[in-house]
Amino acid sequence: MMRFVVLTIFPELVQAFWENGIMRRALDNGTITARAINIREHASGRHRVTDDRPYGGGCGMVMKPEPLDAAIRDARQREPDAPVILMAPQGQPLSQSLAADLAEKQALIFICGRYEGVDERVVGKWVDLEVSIGDYVLTGGELPAMVVMDAVTRLIPGALGNEDSAKQDSFSHQRLDHGHYTRPPEFEGETVPEVLLSGHHDKIARWRRADALMRTLVRRPDLLDASSLEREEIRLLEKWRLEIERLISRPGSRGFDPPPGDG
Ligand code: ADE
Repeated sequence: MMRFVVLTIFPELVQAFWENGIMRRALDNGTITARAINIREHASGRHRVTDDRPYGGGCGMVMKPEPLDAAIRDARQREPDAPVILMAPQGQPLSQSLAADLAEKQALIFICGRYEGVDERVVGKWVDLEVSIGDYVLTGGELPAMVVMDAVTRLIPGALGNEDSAKQDSFSHQRLDHGHYTRPPEFEGETVPEVLLSGHHDKIARWRRADALMRTLVRRPDLLDASSLEREEIRLLEKWRLEIERLISRPGSRGFDPPPGDG
């Protein structure tokens, strides 16, 4: 069971996310609980202001310390042991392994920053971990918090219908996922790889491991390192290397000579 608490000035945004799909099902079957705390409700004054101009000047606004501090205290009272996670582009990059670490916790508190940032004193006082979902800047931490909650929820036992699917998918073992096919067997002239129709489970599993390796090699070779290669994969890579060498050393090919003007 996982309990999410999200501090935001746009609670409707995250609540909409919780109302559909896997998140909805996980809430309905008690795998997770989720609560949004509106930071604005912890702000004082008639206008309930949550941001202010940055000291030192510059454009953009900074989230004021007092309302956010009060909202975090509220969250911490409900969840005294939950780590406080600030969503920010300066944070630790989200990865499958970070999601798996977070999925081990009983509860998580997310701070969704808006404007240019959060007063650094609140960060120093409360934040256990800053998380980024990538090297790009969004207008707020709500979407990033939803991304983290999505990645975490599908790792909580019982959240997905099929217990195996989280273990088998992309990245859980540093490989991209293999290709997927469903009916019909022929679509706009394109067929399905024969082996997937064979009913031969070992062969299907082998085809999927080979397809995953090929896709990783072509699209994300940075994920592959020699130490993680399994014996079967090394055999496949050697087979493909021979095929490639045969192809490029054929008469009429340039062989291994670099093309003119290259290097
Ligand atoms: N807030 C704004 N941009 C972000 C990002 N890339 N990751 C996490 N939080 C953010």
